[in-house]
Parts: sequence; structure tokens; C-alpha cells
Amino acid sequence: MKIIFRNFRVIDAFTDVTGSVIVDGGRIVDVVPDAVVPHGDGGLVFDGCGRLVLTSGFVDMHAHFREPGSSGKETLESASLAAARGGYTSVVCMANTSPPVDNEAAAISIKRRADAIGLISLYPAISLTEGMNGKKLSPYLAAGRSAVRTYSPPLLSEDGRDVADEGLLRTALRAAAEGGHTVSCHCDFGGEDAAVKRVLELGVDCRIHIAHVSAKGAVNLLRDHKSHAPESPVTAEATPHHIALTRGDAEASGAETFGKVAPPLRSEEHRLELIEGLRDGVIDVIATDHAPHTTDDKLNGAPGFSGLETAFAVCYTTLVKRYNFSLQKLFSLLSAEPARILGLSGCGAIAAGNNADIVVLDTERETVIDGDTFASRGKNTLFSGRKLYGSVVLTLHDGRVVYQA
Ligand code: NCD
Repeated sequence: MKIIFRNFRVIDAFTDVTGSVIVDGGRIVDVVPDAVVPHGDGGLVFDGCGRLVLTSGFVDMHAHFREPGSSGKETLESASLAAARGGYTSVVCMANTSPPVDNEAAAISIKRRADAIGLISLYPAISLTEGMNGKKLSPYLAAGRSAVRTYSPPLLSEDGRDVADEGLLRTALRAAAEGGHTVSCHCDFGGEDAAVKRVLELGVDCRIHIAHVSAKGAVNLLRDHKSHAPESPVTAEATPHHIALTRGDAEASGAETFGKVAPPLRSEEHRLELIEGLRDGVIDVIATDHAPHTTDDKLNGAPGFSGLETAFAVCYTTLVKRYNFSLQKLFSLLSAEPARILGLSGCGAIAAGNNADIVVLDTERETVIDGDTFASRGKNTLFSGRKLYGSVVLTLHDGRVVYQA
């Protein structure tokens, strides 16, 4: 179906114009700057009144969708809807399910179900070790390059757990590199700084992405690494909660219950270093680490926050309103860079020929967050009760409206 978005501020990491965007057949067919295009011929028309922001659908490199095995915490349906409400059109879901996703068939079965739901593009990550046991290579990696593949995950990851055995980690990274894979590393073995140092010093020529960087020391290690090796493919992410909150916020909600997250919320000094890391490009992307749990599980100390539905408002309010990041920089962090790192073609920019994955935002609208209204089954957020700027008005995926406020 043809859809015309007329009179929007069309802005992504590469463009910033007022104009119109025309969508047809799941693709962006035209971007018309500085013109209010006519109402068209029977398709849907949305008017941005020269004020609403239109950008490329957000890309989340790190979320926990919990299926198979923990549908009490989240289902593919509830997580997909939460993503669409948050403006996300592509998401990588982590492998720490029950059982863990350590083989291609398991990943394909999740992907097929998510495709049938049809709200977002979901890319299941596959683990580095079998059953995430940290003892031997996952069937996916062990099968090696000779295996016939129908699904190539944009990330391999042991997220939720570090690989303690250094020899095995090196073997896994070598196997990943041979298969052309990027590995998202959950670095906490011996502490975040030591774990990041270990991965950077392994010397394996693999595309490494450091997940949920939260500590000042880790940011500085990455800064040193990138300045000494500008061609290095190492990338990194920070989460909305680590850039907006500190230990005090965790303690106020229960440091061992509702305020608990891995890695933990830290001091203001760490938080400010993350902001600087994002500003100067040491940290490349924002990823939600959406980690939904039931209330009982939170009371029993399960770490994690529900993050998909608040990510944009938290990042916009924190980075743009408070720390003067440009909107273009924010959209680079939320869309263009994650799409590039994941190798998702046709994503990350508003350009003719790209996928019609679009989000419409009202940046001036203030909302009071209420976790109880989330589409996610995980209602746990430390942002409940906070007034934040920026809300998602509409999300288009593959040329179809998948969410409208
Ligand atoms: C993650 C989860 O719940 O799967 N939780 C979190 O706080 N990020 C796993 C983890 O990284 O510990």
C-alpha cells in the first residue's frame, strides 16, 4: 500500500530536511525535500504539520525476548509489540533462553515465529558455547564453515554470562571470525574493566562488540584501544538506564530487587564517562538490554529492566535535552550505527530504496512513564513516575503501520 508522510522533519544520521517521504510496497520510494506533496491517490496520508520528526526505525542490538522457556516473563508477541511501541523495527534477541539458542535450527524457529507475528524484524543471536555451559563450542560454531546455512545471525553472543575459559573464548572468537561473524561480548569475568581488557588483548582478528559498557575504566580502555588502532573493528554499546541512572536510583527501588540489573547501576562518575564516550564515538550505539522479568522473579533478585518502551524518551531527554547531543547523533546511535554493525542492508537511513521501517516522533511531548502500561510482560522500570520528553507517535515496519499512539 502507498503511504505518504507529508510535511515532516525528515532526519536521520545523514539528512535533516523538512519534506515528504513516500512509501510503497514495503520500500521508501521517494524523499521529497522542501515540498509539501499533494494528498495523493487513495493511499494513507499522514501530515507532520512541519513539526513531527520522521526517522529510520530504531535497531536494538541487545534484547531478551525470553522464548523459548520463560513465557511468563515475556513472549515473542509481547516483546514484538513492546519493540514497535518503542519505535524499534529490528531487534537482536539474546541466546540465554531455556534452552539456550546454540544452534541454527533453534534460531530459525524463533525467527519464523517472529516473522509470522510480523511487527518487527527479529534476529536471534546464537551462543558461543553449547547450552551456554562455557565448556565447549556451540553446535553452530563447531559445525564450522563447511556447514550449509540458511540463517546467519548478525551477532553471536554468550550474553548473560562471560566465557571464563580464555582458551575456549579464543577458539570461539577464531571460529566466529572464520564464519564472518561479529561477537557481542558480555564482559564481567573478573570485573568489567578486567574482562574488557582481556577481550581487547586476546589478539583474535574478530569483529568484537562490547555489550552494555557501564564502567569508567572500560570506557577508557576502549578509548585507548580505538585511538591506538583506529582501524580496529571493535565497537561498543551503552544502555539507556546506565546513561540516565545511578546507584542511588537502584537503592531507592531495592538494590537487590527492582533496582538490580547486570551490569549494576554505578556512580555519577561512571555515568558521566559513558556520556563522554557516546559523545566522542568511543561508544558506538545505544542498545536497550531489555530484560523483562515477573514481579516474583524481581523480588527474588533476577537482574534486569524492561527497556524497549522507554529507550527513546530516556535517550532523548538525557542526551539531547540535557547534554546537547544533536538529534542526528542520537539517530546515529539508535539506528544508523547498529544497522551498520549488524550488516542490515536497507536499514538505518531514510533513503529511496531502503526498507519502509520508519518511526514518527513527537519530541516536544512530555509523558509520565508508567511501567504498568507497558506492552511488555516485564513491567519493571526505574523510570516509572518520571516525566520524560519525546514519544513515539507511529511505527511503520515493512511499509505497514505496526503501532500508532
Ligand atoms: C539479563 C537477563 O535477564 O537475561 N539481565 C540483565 O540485567 N541484563 C542477563 C544479564 O546480562 O545478566
